Amino acid sequence: MNGHTFSAGQVGTARFPLTCIDLADPVLYTAPDGGLDLLRQLQREHPVYWNHRPGGAGFWAFTRYADAVTVFRSKNAFTSRQGIQVGQAGGMEQPAAGTMLVQADRGDHRRIKATLSPHLSETAMQQLLPVLRAAARMAVDKHADGTEFDFMTEIAAELTWSVLGAILGIPAADRRTVARWTETAFGATSGQRQDHPAAEGGGTASPAVTANAELFGYFADRLRERRRNPGDDIISALARPQAGNDTGLTPTEILVNAHLLLAGGHETTRHALAGAVVALAEHPGQWARLRKDPSLMPAAVEEIIRWSAPSLNIVRTATTDIEIAGQRVRAGQQVSLWPPIANRDHAAFPDAESFDVGREPNRHLSFGMGSHFCLGAWTARQEIRILLEELATRATVPEVSGSARRMRSNRTWGYQTLPVRLITAHPST
Ligand code: HEM
Repeated sequence: MNGHTFSAGQVGTARFPLTCIDLADPVLYTAPDGGLDLLRQLQREHPVYWNHRPGGAGFWAFTRYADAVTVFRSKNAFTSRQGIQVGQAGGMEQPAAGTMLVQADRGDHRRIKATLSPHLSETAMQQLLPVLRAAARMAVDKHADGTEFDFMTEIAAELTWSVLGAILGIPAADRRTVARWTETAFGATSGQRQDHPAAEGGGTASPAVTANAELFGYFADRLRERRRNPGDDIISALARPQAGNDTGLTPTEILVNAHLLLAGGHETTRHALAGAVVALAEHPGQWARLRKDPSLMPAAVEEIIRWSAPSLNIVRTATTDIEIAGQRVRAGQQVSLWPPIANRDHAAFPDAESFDVGREPNRHLSFGMGSHFCLGAWTARQEIRILLEELATRATVPEVSGSARRMRSNRTWGYQTLPVRLITAHPST
């Protein structure tokens, strides 16, 4: 272990002094390649890496695919209650431990999942497809004239909010405000919080804390209103008295899980949609191949999700001593798994660095694995598919301008701004 950490400002060349890198530094992922070169080097040279944290507990980083799978499969040796992403302080339970699905283990997890999952199943989500189609059609039409626009706000956010607004019953008039709070709450918990005086004990609440409080207040109001006046949304369904002995979720559990859906449904999916556009712009031959052969669509969607891997890392805390990849992990230590680089592991994916819309099989880790596997996976796939279909129908080829900016985040891997133009494809392609 090493007592010194390099600041991200010292990172700028292809070779990194690996024993000194702090993977929790969000600035690492603002590089144009999103920090992939660093992660590649780590996987090659230190696939089992102890990340020292100045003034706090460190964490293990396992960057190989097989080691991530071992951790997912050893679920009885790990807990999600002490945080699931890098940057969440280790050594103590999260405030939503045992109440938010993704931060619950075993019995609590089974109980909450049994209540939530029917509302997010393929059958339940089918009814949202026309809403999603209409939103995608309108957003793409609006920008089909070839002028530059920010894909993150103009298309990605429109699509994710069309779905989330319907799932959570957020009236159209409130969506922009809720979207702003969501971005502040989740963007800030991923590193920007350090910039704010409150993070240094400066007294005032940070924008993230304020936005989180606004979100909780907003959903508490929705919950009260839905009890009086139920709609088709998940909050109304969860607030309804349950049949038989099933006590359903408590009001607090409903609120924290609404919060989880915002994070899952908005933050990650937005970046997968952006990943689609960037991948197609960088691989016009693959885009032409897909347009000529729409039967490749399911494989193409999966490849986009492998490639874009919006959850930068997934964290667990060991509850017992356990050996992973020959390394003894002690009870209480955190381990982190890194989908963007595990998904590019040559030992798991033939020609892993190629973007291939026909790739099969494609057992990427972007949605996690095992009991916590993403409950919104089907919905996220439909969002990507419908966007691709709308782009293909108009025979447009996305072009990304050089001024795209990556997220400054140690949790979400994607773009802050993504200036894009939709160009009409040449008839020969
Ligand atoms: C491409 C988009 C998405 C990605 C990359 C993604 C990624 C993930 C990952 C990695 C996990 C597992 C976390 C862990 O093991 O600790 C997860 C869980 C979850 N996701 Fe997603 N997600 C996406 C879209 C969605 C959507 C659209 C929704 C809801 C509308 C959603 C809801 C959830 C929920 C409820 C869980 C918790 C499952 C559990 O703990 O049992 N996600 N997601």
